[in-house]
Amino acid sequence: MNILVTGGTGYIGSHTCIALIDAGYSVVVADNLSNSKRETIENIKYITGQDIPFYEIDVTDKQAVECIFRKHKLNGVIHFAGLKAVGESIKKPSTYYENNIISTLVLAKACLKFGINQFVFSSSATVYGENEVPFVETMDLLPTTNPYGETKSICERILKDIAQANPSFSVSLLRYFNPVGAHESGLIGEIPNGPPNNLMPYITQVAIGKQGKLKIFGNDYPTIDGTGIRDYVHVMDLAEGHVAALTSKREGVQIYNLGTGQGTSVLQLVRAFEESTGIKISYEMVDCRPGDIAACYADVQKARRELGWVAKRDLKTMCRDAWRFERNYDQVLK
Ligand code: NAD
Ligand code: UFG
Repeated sequence: MNILVTGGTGYIGSHTCIALIDAGYSVVVADNLSNSKRETIENIKYITGQDIPFYEIDVTDKQAVECIFRKHKLNGVIHFAGLKAVGESIKKPSTYYENNIISTLVLAKACLKFGINQFVFSSSATVYGENEVPFVETMDLLPTTNPYGETKSICERILKDIAQANPSFSVSLLRYFNPVGAHESGLIGEIPNGPPNNLMPYITQVAIGKQGKLKIFGNDYPTIDGTGIRDYVHVMDLAEGHVAALTSKREGVQIYNLGTGQGTSVLQLVRAFEESTGIKISYEMVDCRPGDIAACYADVQKARRELGWVAKRDLKTMCRDAWRFERNYDQVLK
């Protein structure tokens, strides 16, 4: 089975290529390298021992996308390629709407044209908005607080409509919670562009000395210790969730939360990192970040029941692997 992985040199896409190859799939990667590096392909090849066709293209480009569909006999598409920085999406909404929505339309239409019936889409827990936790797939979605989140809700809607009109076209909408960690080889991981927006890469950069203190955004949320609660999930578990979605071969539109089901506060994550690495993280409390919600974690029963998928790696493993990659990247890979 041959899968086109768009955004395959990015953080989640690169780990998913490894999980797919481990499960016996072959992959073709398309990425415009706007937020990733070409070396990642070499590292995936090194880890898996497989050759991987790589196309440096923009997946909003219909001709370039169709060229890949013509050249390779594909059985499915996993569409990771997208812009994902929440703050940037507020400053450049049209760029976000154009990139994330047009790419999804171009790929879905190419699937219909070339008779490819399996489409997996990277959605996000952000589509739930400020709902009551835990978030369940059957909940009505609430408006998100930024254009990035809106692109995910809109793409979900577009794919549902296309699948309804084309009953042989199967779509998995995977709503990720907070992916962290890295492949255990330490060769691939998350490489933020500039100072990290996300908590785990910020912590690892404080640990290595690239950042001063961690700023904790808000300490008076109605949570266990006043700091924000999220559902951190190891990126390799998340990657394996994609393999589970593909192999389940369910028809129609399927929506799955991919998380652990466990809420962890910012302070709890800081402590878990300190315990698993022995490094002290200095921090200060600052104002809440606009748009953040108090708590976000998944109800994971549906993925367990229908896909047989559960996240297996614990918080310590997530911290250890994130730290291994940060050190390795700084000393060897950069
Ligand atoms: P990432 O930025 O590391 O990877 C995305 C990849 O897509 C990058 O390599 C980038 O170069 C590429 N890309 C972007 N636009 C493209 C285009 N038009 N054509 C070709 N390539 C393009 O991000 P990630 O963390 O791996 O996220 C993957 C997907 O998962 C994204 O759609 C993101 O919105 C979604 N997601 C991420 C998170 C998260 O916290 N990381 C959470 C929920 C959902
Ligand atoms: N936080 C800090 N300091 C930082 C960074 C984050 O205190 O320097 C806090 C946030 O306030 C939040 C928690 O750490 O409480 C997690 O924040 P992240 O930025 O790591 O993640 P978010 O939950 O805000 O958002 C992430 C992705 C979104 C995705 C969402 C899905 O960035 O794209 O998870 O749940 F939509």
